[in-house]
Amino acid sequence: MSGVFEVREYDAAGRRGELTVPRADVTVETPALLPVVNPHVQTVPPSQLESEFGAEILITNSYVLHGSEDLREPALEQGLHDLLGFSGAIMTDSGSFQLAEYGEITVTTEEILQFQHAIGSDIGTPVDIPTPPDVSHEQASEELATTQERLELAETVDTGEMLVTAPVQGSTHPDLRERAGREAASTSLDVFPIGAVVPLMNEYRFDDLVDVVTAAKRGLGEAAPVHLFGAGHPMMFALAVALGCDLFDSAAYALYARDGRYLTVRGTEHLEDLDYFPCSCPVCTDHTPADLRDLDDERECQRLLAEHNLYVSFEEMRTVRQAIRRGNLLELVEMRARGHPTMLDGYRTLLDYADQLERTDPVSKDAFFYLSSESARRPEVLRHHQRLSRLDPDGEILLTEGNHSDAYDDSWRLLPPFGPVPRELADAYPLAGELPERVDVQSYEAAAEGVRRLAADSDAELTVFHRDWPETALDALPADVTVEVLGSDQ
Ligand code: GUN
Ligand code: ZN
Repeated sequence: MSGVFEVREYDAAGRRGELTVPRADVTVETPALLPVVNPHVQTVPPSQLESEFGAEILITNSYVLHGSEDLREPALEQGLHDLLGFSGAIMTDSGSFQLAEYGEITVTTEEILQFQHAIGSDIGTPVDIPTPPDVSHEQASEELATTQERLELAETVDTGEMLVTAPVQGSTHPDLRERAGREAASTSLDVFPIGAVVPLMNEYRFDDLVDVVTAAKRGLGEAAPVHLFGAGHPMMFALAVALGCDLFDSAAYALYARDGRYLTVRGTEHLEDLDYFPCSCPVCTDHTPADLRDLDDERECQRLLAEHNLYVSFEEMRTVRQAIRRGNLLELVEMRARGHPTMLDGYRTLLDYADQLERTDPVSKDAFFYLSSESARRPEVLRHHQRLSRLDPDGEILLTEGNHSDAYDDSWRLLPPFGPVPRELADAYPLAGELPERVDVQSYEAAAEGVRRLAADSDAELTVFHRDWPETALDALPADVTVEVLGSDQ
């Protein structure tokens, strides 16, 4: 890697950063959305993507240009920036997606990289093998070996200042995704797309997507700029960013518009089903759904839908960036997870990796908001529990949801979902967070886990005073802890 990516700040495994693209002489703020430009059927011109939507980078398919009778020569003569009318960074894909769709393509990695370089691409891509989900370990492993050979070949092609991507494959096998990530990161290549996840997203398999991305990230490490190939639906940006993805390409804005689909951060709507536009972008303030349906010119309707889709997509990316700044990205993920049950599965799976997310999560952020029972499994709660395991108090300690008592050597608050709160930490992040009055079972159970962590390897005699904890939480307390229910005056 040529050190082109710098992380500015983290939230969970999500980060804001800067990707320097030397050939374009630009620095792209990440997380970033790359609109997919199809030079043959582009409804929103790249100049507009730049001026109106603020796109700093876009992606187009060099294989399509390579095989195009009318555009191949102009691309070679004018260069992509001139041809498309875009002054930011341009990334090119290689035709691997076409390989996955149609079974074969007619270029090699060497040819397509040289072509990408010749048309002035700023970030090129070799011909990786997009192994689909659910294939055998053997097939995924064999195809991964081929992808790895292509990456090693790509290292030897003279592509000047152009950055080159190293796609990470491995199907739905986490061990292969992790190995692929490690091998890709050990090449001299520059940007690391996680590939062949489009089928997972099309089938709303966000739980499997989280398993795949976390595995790839373990292999890639923190220094690698990570692209999630084909992830263009704004409902999943927060989730994918929280996992540590930095770049996203959206063909969805245009493809969905083509069949009357309207993107929102909660999912997809059909223009036919809408009476109102729940959005304040220029398209949605100037038109009603009926106006769009009544347009005689179908292309005009598509263009307007594509523009709306771009507005919500870029807006969501700014929302995600701001959430990282504020340190409430997981709260955004938690809200977006309410848009669709499969997104909730994705978020719940992400929380299975709380320890992986905790490693880069800042120790102090804006107030912790408990928003649903899933919050009990957030990395911040896990970190507090890990701290408790490292404490080694002694004497008789009261852990109480009520008043403190002098009858013990020490008396600490007991605060679901965190559990025991040592006095010196009471005002520190995340314990001074915003918690609901009505505590759910998962929060009590997490608090019991905190008590268990404190009790393990400690000589202290612990007493728990609780307000009517549920049986499942009480059962999770260690056997040698004294337990009493608080009266209303305590
Ligand atoms: N576009 C969507 N998925 C992929 C992939 O796995 N590889 C490449 N090169 N492009 C893609
Ligand atoms: Zn709109």
